[in-house]
Amino acid sequence: MGQTVIPLADQRYLASVPHIPIKLIAPTGLLSDTLARPLRDLRISVTDRCNFRCSYCMPKEVFDKNYSFLPQTSLLSFEEITRTARLFVAHGVQKIRLTGGEPLLRKHIEVLIGMLSALRTPEGAPLDLTLTTNASVLAKKAQALKDAGLQRITVSLDALDDTIFRRMNDADFPVADVLKGIEAADKVGLGPIKVNMVVKRGTNDSEIVPMARHFKGSSVVLRFIEYMDVGATNGWRMNEVMPSAQVIERINEVFPLAAIGANSLGETAQRWRYRDGSGEVGVISSVTQAFCRDCNRARLSTEGKLFLCLFASQGHDLRALLRGEFSDEQISAAIAHIWQHRDDRYSELRSSGQADAGGGERRVEMHYIGG
Ligand code: GTP
Ligand code: 5AD
Ligand code: SF4
Ligand code: SF4
Repeated sequence: MGQTVIPLADQRYLASVPHIPIKLIAPTGLLSDTLARPLRDLRISVTDRCNFRCSYCMPKEVFDKNYSFLPQTSLLSFEEITRTARLFVAHGVQKIRLTGGEPLLRKHIEVLIGMLSALRTPEGAPLDLTLTTNASVLAKKAQALKDAGLQRITVSLDALDDTIFRRMNDADFPVADVLKGIEAADKVGLGPIKVNMVVKRGTNDSEIVPMARHFKGSSVVLRFIEYMDVGATNGWRMNEVMPSAQVIERINEVFPLAAIGANSLGETAQRWRYRDGSGEVGVISSVTQAFCRDCNRARLSTEGKLFLCLFASQGHDLRALLRGEFSDEQISAAIAHIWQHRDDRYSELRSSGQADAGGGERRVEMHYIGG
């Protein structure tokens, strides 16, 4: 059952051509990996480009004008993405998140959303179809996204203070336009909207309470994310991580909080409600409190490689199958085989000192694999 690692023209990371089991594995919706984790969530990166240069994701010094992004021919087409998504849904996926890079920069993204929104689970239910965006063009696109069948949206926003925000996006993009995007998304019914703030100690931790104050009492759920050592270019250092416990402490001093339970198994965020009844906040603590145990997420990169962990250094080249003479049944069996052999749990291993941050093979970048 050995897998061959082959070099490809647009090879960035190691990828193996998936093995197709001789005895095909029919989709039952009940796949389970080696740690008994189901497959429920598929994140699809639709472009590796972005108009922001957040230092924790696409630092300007690396992603400059000399950086070669993927050529158009490498990208999965909308038909290829939809075919793949359909096979994943038959295996149990219930949530699809479009990511990037910045997904709204992919031309005609609403056409893809229309195609994906027509998919149904084996029980006939629509998918939880959502998208993560920096909201730079959201005000313009919100209505078209809603009309195409997008259900909800998550916006990345790291500060309300315009100077801090411009510094963090490193593209001199004003915060007012992001806020207009959020407003537009809310107006057309793309809620419940989530806002994700990556907290870097010394850079934007002064924005924790202002952000909480701004979204408190609105329909937006604000979530604070621990700065992660994802990829190999962001120069991650533990002393820039602000543990979620401290984030909660800071908010609690001003607006008292109480912990609440998870919405669903495998949820990334721990939820807290304001004691005065004005909504909730969440914290995503992948550094200080790994949540690999219930990780049910698979990631499809822009050019069709399947990654089983945000910190993986090797993917599975589904595009080679999609562009080869393989039937749906064969590709579906290959996906099942990959998931059944999955044992990834990077964050847990790092916490217990068994994985060394930044060491080993070159890990995938977040702009390529999607958050
Ligand atoms: P909802 O269904 O809206 O709650 O989405 P989600 O919790 O799946 O989260 P979202 O896509 O908004 O992810 C938020 C952030 O959590 C990402 O940008 C990452 O920083 C982090 N994150 C998401 N999934 C994983 C994961 O599997 N592992 C790790 N380590 N971090 C993750
Ligand atoms: N640490 C934590 N989250 C990150 N993201 C990107 N890079 C990182 C990182 N180093 C996530 C953020 C952002 C989304 C697009 O990707 O949540 O909002
Ligand atoms: Fe772009 Fe989002 Fe990465 Fe920032 S975090 S560079 S907005 S993809
Ligand atoms: Fe899942 Fe990997 Fe994140 Fe753990 S580190 S939660 S296995 S993606």
